[in-house]
Amino acid sequence: MAKIIAIANQKGGVGKTVTVVNIAAGLAEQGKKVLCIDLDPQGNLSDYLGYDFSGGFTIVDVLKGKAAVSDCINTAKNDPIDYIPADITLATADLFLAQTMCREQILRKAITSDSKLCEYDYVLIDCLPSLGILVTNALAAADSVIIPVQVQKFALNGIVQFEDIFNLVKENINSGLKICGILETMTDNTQMAQAVDNALKERYAGLVFETTISKRIEAANSTAEQRSLISKKNSVVGGQYRRLVAEIIEREGD
Ligand SMILES: Nc1ncnc2c1ncn2[C@@H]1O[C@H](COP(=O)(O)OP(=O)(O)OP(=O)(O)O)[C@@H](O)[C@H]1O
Ligand SMILES: [Mg+2]
Repeated sequence: MAKIIAIANQKGGVGKTVTVVNIAAGLAEQGKKVLCIDLDPQGNLSDYLGYDFSGGFTIVDVLKGKAAVSDCINTAKNDPIDYIPADITLATADLFLAQTMCREQILRKAITSDSKLCEYDYVLIDCLPSLGILVTNALAAADSVIIPVQVQKFALNGIVQFEDIFNLVKENINSGLKICGILETMTDNTQMAQAVDNALKERYAGLVFETTISKRIEAANSTAEQRSLISKKNSVVGGQYRRLVAEIIEREGD
């Protein structure tokens, strides 16, 4: 069975989606077969991977029970990554899941009951910036979580709230859930970045990844180029994500 990793932080714009795409590309480079799931109505991951939003099954159809996960697989335009797209129709998930039994576990059941997903080594779930039902579904389905944290003021407040939801899911639905690691993103040379780094390491000691991701224009541009940084020769941030992947493989035990 594939290892399932959710990339989550309810704070917006911290680098979740860029991290999912580049971890996926880095794992693929190591010969792993990777499926990404876009669980954000903004559809940023789908867009990054070159989805044309022209119809076809999306993750909404899975959550509504109209399609299996394996019915929704697309392949990225410029990277050897498969993905399940999302679009704005996912924004009504709160409504359409309200009447569903065990609504926190729909995604988990859809993934574990789909025998065609056995061919994947990793499933990465790109979460939306919220702590609602979709994120609960991601945490219920996941073996572990990566929390990207942008090293700026108030960054820690968000993680404390996230910990509450994480613990609720672990206690009630998914006792095996772990934190794979906390990833510092968009780092720079400011004193604030240093202060956040110190505070994170004090509070979360061994959980913070050694590798950090710098704030660089090439990372911002990569989303429009619809291509991972890993796939670009000489990319500094691509090299950082490559080192992160080595840490993840070490922590997850291949
Ligand atoms: N290392 C980086 N350096 C500079 N810009 C970056 C970096 N990583 C991501 N960005 C840019 O910052 C913005 C937010 O990144 P991203 O979309 O990955 O965040 P997110 O956490 O997924 O956001 P959301 O919460 O809206 O889903 C994007 O415009 C992206 O191109
Ligand atoms: Mg995102």
